[in-house]
Formats: sequence, structure tokens, C-alpha cells
Amino acid sequence: MKKNRIKQIVDRWVFPTETGSYMGGLENRPVLEKSNGSIVTDTEGKEYLDFQSGQMGAALGHQHPRMIAAIQKTLDSMMHASNALLHVPRLKLHETLGKLLPKPLDKSLFLVSGSDSIEASIDLARKATGGLDVVGFHAGLHGSTSYLTRSISFNWTRSKHSIVAPATASILAPYCYRCPVGLKYPSCKFQCLESSMEMADANFTAKPAAFIAEPILSAGGVIVPPKGYYEAVRKVCDDRGMLLIFDESQTGLGKTGRLFGFQHEEGVVPDIITISKHFGGGLPISAVCTTSKIAQTAVDAGYFATRSHATDPLLCAAGEESLKIVVDEDMPGRAARIERRIKRAFRKMAQEFELIGDIRGRGVLLGIEFVTDRKKKTPANKEVAAMFEYCLSHGLIFQTRGVRDLKNVIRLVPPMSSSDAEVDRAMSIMYDALRAVTKGRRKGKAAGTRSRRG
Ligand SMILES: Cc1ncc(COP(=O)(O)O)c(C=O)c1O
Repeated sequence: MKKNRIKQIVDRWVFPTETGSYMGGLENRPVLEKSNGSIVTDTEGKEYLDFQSGQMGAALGHQHPRMIAAIQKTLDSMMHASNALLHVPRLKLHETLGKLLPKPLDKSLFLVSGSDSIEASIDLARKATGGLDVVGFHAGLHGSTSYLTRSISFNWTRSKHSIVAPATASILAPYCYRCPVGLKYPSCKFQCLESSMEMADANFTAKPAAFIAEPILSAGGVIVPPKGYYEAVRKVCDDRGMLLIFDESQTGLGKTGRLFGFQHEEGVVPDIITISKHFGGGLPISAVCTTSKIAQTAVDAGYFATRSHATDPLLCAAGEESLKIVVDEDMPGRAARIERRIKRAFRKMAQEFELIGDIRGRGVLLGIEFVTDRKKKTPANKEVAAMFEYCLSHGLIFQTRGVRDLKNVIRLVPPMSSSDAEVDRAMSIMYDALRAVTKGRRKGKAAGTRSRRG
């Protein structure tokens, strides 16, 4: 499609984007035409390394040949079906997923988007506990449906919504690089959690139902809670009869180097997990998973959750194939190797560029926080925006994130199928971007950068 034709359509027909949102400005970005593996190609034929894996739905690599084959095969037999009748692709997906779930999780139900799965998980927790109130992190994000999931996506400004759901409240995220209570781990003894829960207890409007959390807070700037934190959260939940929901939308199915992100938290067993994003290998399908006991208690109280397309054979077949690819191709192992390569490259760059303040994340969910002053940790929003533009024009795509209004974290989510050569090329573009934005103010050896496998 020609440039002037694209512009005509955008100007005349495309709903405008809000500049403060992560889609803001897409009207002026490349227009994509095809994708393959880690590469997306625009209408001008220019190739980009897609280090955000689409909208994280292509973490197996774009157009994975096994996904294409499974989808094509299902298209020939049955694309859509009633969700009031079982069918074979659905049964197979329940079984394949159930066998992969860490015990005692075994039951699953399917929906379409990540937001769907979050809404359904909260309804499930409410029905299973008879409670109502839900808490989530002030730097968390759990979806974009207009009522419930945006209400608990505290990393987005709630005043941008038309109305906010009652019985939803934020608690402080364990953001150690910028501790919200000004303390240091581990001597802090998770004061952020203790003070937050004291406030939450005072604010609850009914019996609390759930604590929802991402194992790694992705949109909030790839925040990795410190060791032991989720153990303390588990206790907080048990003490109050709340269920612990892990939103594994960003962290599930291999991306952190383990099958599920919460498996990095020794001894912590969630009551409910949700999965989405690359679960469909590029098609939209999500799941809510829980224990038989919780599922039955909720159902006895009247719980059900579905959508017209929630159990389409096409989506179920895609889900089953993606799970098999994750296992057969050792995606967690590949993610862990990519993590090591990228962190090594950034640690080296940090010796040269004062701008790199923190290197964190797990597997292929990585965040680099940029600051103009390492001691004061002044957010380098402007510099990160310039790096984003430089990288985009030189063939590297990623998103910039951060807590609330901050956009000083470069979030890298390369497909788990990325080769060493692709990672190295991305790192080389990143290095050039750093040189370009720090012209004249580079250091020889910068001190004080931390790097943790977090
Ligand atoms: C952690 C998390 N949960 C839920 C969602 C919502 O998923 P969806 O956009 O598929 O509704 C997102 C979206 O990015 C997310 O990052």
C-alpha cells in the first residue's frame, strides 16, 4: 500500500490515539505488511527486529510453521462451535494444559482475551470466597476492558475511565529500585506490603476476595519483586481468606525461563492463574486455571464464565499446539539463554553509559531502566524517547514503559525463537542508539549500576 493511500485512510477512518497511551502516535509509525520469526516487514519492504513479539502474542516467533499447520488443519474441519457442546480440540486442550499445570491447579476454562481471563478470575475468587474486595499493585496492569480490568490496572490513570469499579484498591508495588517507602531490601522486611495491607484492611468495604499480581510487573517497568516477597503475600492472603491470583499473561508459558513466572517463587502456590498472549501462538485465546476445590465451590455458588468464541475449535487447536511447541522446543531454556546474552550485553554497555540505571527481568521479559543521574535516579524519559526513535528507524522495535507517568524503561520481549545473531544485532543497534543520545556526555567507567537476575 502506498504512503499517501495509508495517510488518507488514517486521516479519514482511523479512530485517533490518545498520546499518553502506549498506542499514542501509531499514525506516524511504520505500517506492517508481513512477519516471520523475529522479523516484521513494513510496506516499504524495510525489516525490523520485533523485540516486543507483536503485542507479546508472538513470543513463539511470528508465523511459527507448526502453528500455521495446526490452524490450517482445523480450518478444514471445524472453525467455530457452540460453547454448550464439547468438541475434540477443546477436550485435548484441557488435557494438555491440565498436565502442564503445577499441582494443585488442574481445572481450566477458556476465554478470548487476557482481560476476559482477569475478569473471570476475579468473579471466580468472589464466588469461591463469598468476598468482594480486590487489591492489586499501584504499578500493575491487568487489562483494558472498560470497567473491571481497567479499574485494577493502577499503572494507567484511573481518571481516564468513565467509571471505576467499586471494591478495587491499589497497594504499593515492591519496586526496590525506587522503594515506595524509602527503605532497602532485605532490612525493609517488606514494609511496603505491611503498610499497604494495614491501609487495605481499613478500606475494605466487605470481606476481601482476592490479591491479584503479575509475577513480574511488566507494563509497570518490568519490576521483579524481591525474593521472599510473594511468600509474604501468600501469608497475607491466607490470614484474610483471600485468594491469590497470578496474572501470567506476560510471564506464562516459558517467557521467564520457567513454564510459569510464579515458579521462580519457591514454595508459593497460587489459587488461580490466568494465561493469554502467546497461548494462542498469535490467535486470541486465554485461560483461567484453578484447583478442583475452588472451581467446584464457585460453581456451587452459581459461577460460570464464557464468551461466544471462547471455545472455538480453531482457538483451542492453536492453544494446544502452542503448549506443545513450548515443551518440544524447550522455550523456557531458550528464554533463559536469551536473558543471559542480553543482560551480558547491557552490563558491558553500563560500564560505558551512565544512563543505564538498572538491568532487570527474567527470560525474554527484560527491562532496562534509564536515568540521567545514577545517584539521584533521575528518570531519563527524554533520552529513552530518543532511543526509541533511533532504534525504530534503524530496524529495532520495542516498547517504553515505567511506573505510572514514567516512560524511562525499555522493555524488551524478543521472541523465544530469536537467534544469537538476532540478539547481537539488536544489542548493536541499542549500543549505537546510546552513543547517539549521549553524544559528548559519555563516561569511561560508570559506577553504581546494578544488575540482578531479579
Ligand atoms: C499482565 C497483563 N494482564 C492482562 C492483560 C490484558 O490482555 P488483553 O489485552 O489480551 O486483554 C495485559 C495486556 O497487555 C497484561 O499485560
